[in-house]
Amino acid sequence: MRDAEIRELPELIGEQVRVSGWLYNARSSGKVRFLVVRDGSGYLQSVVVRSQISEKVWTEAERLTQESSLQVVGKVKEDKRAPGGVELQVEDLTIVQLSPEYPITPKEHGPDFLLNNRHLWLRSRRQHAIMRVRNELTYAIREFFHERNYVNIDSPILTPAACEGTSTLFETDYFGDTAYLTQSGQLYLEPAAAAHGKVYCFGPTFRAEKSKTRRHLMEFWMVEPEVAWMRFDGLLDLAEEFVSCLVTRVLDRCKEDLDRLERDVSKLEPATRRPYPRIDYGDAIAGLQGKGFDVKFGDDFGGDEETALADESGKPIMITRYPAAIKSFYMEPDAADPTRALAMDMIAPDGYGEIIGGSERIGSYELLEKRIAEHDLPRKAFEWYLDIRKFGGFPHSGFGMGIERVVTWLCGISHLREAIPYPRLLNRLYP
Ligand code: 4AD
Ligand code: MG
Repeated sequence: MRDAEIRELPELIGEQVRVSGWLYNARSSGKVRFLVVRDGSGYLQSVVVRSQISEKVWTEAERLTQESSLQVVGKVKEDKRAPGGVELQVEDLTIVQLSPEYPITPKEHGPDFLLNNRHLWLRSRRQHAIMRVRNELTYAIREFFHERNYVNIDSPILTPAACEGTSTLFETDYFGDTAYLTQSGQLYLEPAAAAHGKVYCFGPTFRAEKSKTRRHLMEFWMVEPEVAWMRFDGLLDLAEEFVSCLVTRVLDRCKEDLDRLERDVSKLEPATRRPYPRIDYGDAIAGLQGKGFDVKFGDDFGGDEETALADESGKPIMITRYPAAIKSFYMEPDAADPTRALAMDMIAPDGYGEIIGGSERIGSYELLEKRIAEHDLPRKAFEWYLDIRKFGGFPHSGFGMGIERVVTWLCGISHLREAIPYPRLLNRLYP
């Protein structure tokens, strides 16, 4: 007898195995009890036939409650109708811990109840599938960059200054000084790009956004590449190659999970094909005005505008060359029109919103100095950042992608809170 994970069982037909897991559900039909056991790697129908086992094992099988932990021993049998194509003929069964009434039942629960029980909700089928998609995505992200010879540089989480505006900073005491939780690793990546050429960071980022939208988390994970000598056009190409590779990979490897989530994958397929439409900010404004939106040149886009900008191809779109005034201090102006920034946002189709923000970075020491002053940023805290424009300045570009936005889009779910294991939301820091 050997211990086996449920996912291995199709290879073990005819063998006796022991599976350790939790009771997902159970039903009886007279002298047979069907136990669905899950172990994280899959779901297994385990069949307990009263006439074939001891009275003790039968009583234990009857006593089992939802989410009790257990071990079952039995023979793996082919069964084309069962999930995974196999079932287990139970010979022995041990209850490891009998669970008292489990709070999450197959009936409908409200989002607050589920979020309060996030530590248990993670076991549910849909949540299980979402985390598996996230896992595939993060692995594919690292592989994408590693294969292209990018060096992973981890940026700090405690920082002395803002990166993406001062209004969304989480503050903390740092031995009498103030430290801020990072909003983006970008500023620390730029120096690393001078050391390694192509770099990326991938870590948690924090935004104290007093907004309660389905697209905002207080804590989210961002992946950020930064590339020396890359100009704006190269950046657009990189973002497009990146996203199309990731979508292709998830479609390829997460079929079962997307199926469980009832995701219409035909909606994702256009994103596997390059190029993506590139739309100048000015044209985007004109397009929105044409659709009756009350927007004018100089406005930023909200969620409704982003949704309306969607392309009929069903691909993500890239909006380019935003007015410098509504973008970050570090963005390189467009040489053809310095009131515009060489900035890009990528917007996912079907109303999933902005998934990427990026730009070419300011190359000039004097201009960056001026922007720091204009944005009322503390010059002293940015001395090191200015140094990059002093000791061998170089053109460079990069972007950031929030992975929960992408998971939400890929899984076709309605709210970012399900795309991260433990969401941090306005008024929610538990569990
Ligand atoms: O557009 P953002 O603010 O860009 C930056 O932080 C740049 N410094 C990145 C860079 O150029 N290296 O954020 C980038 C992405 C957004 O497109 C979005 O996907 C995600 O981060 N994001 C959020 N995700 C969840 N909750 C929030 N509150 C988010 N804010 C941004
Ligand atoms: Mg942005």
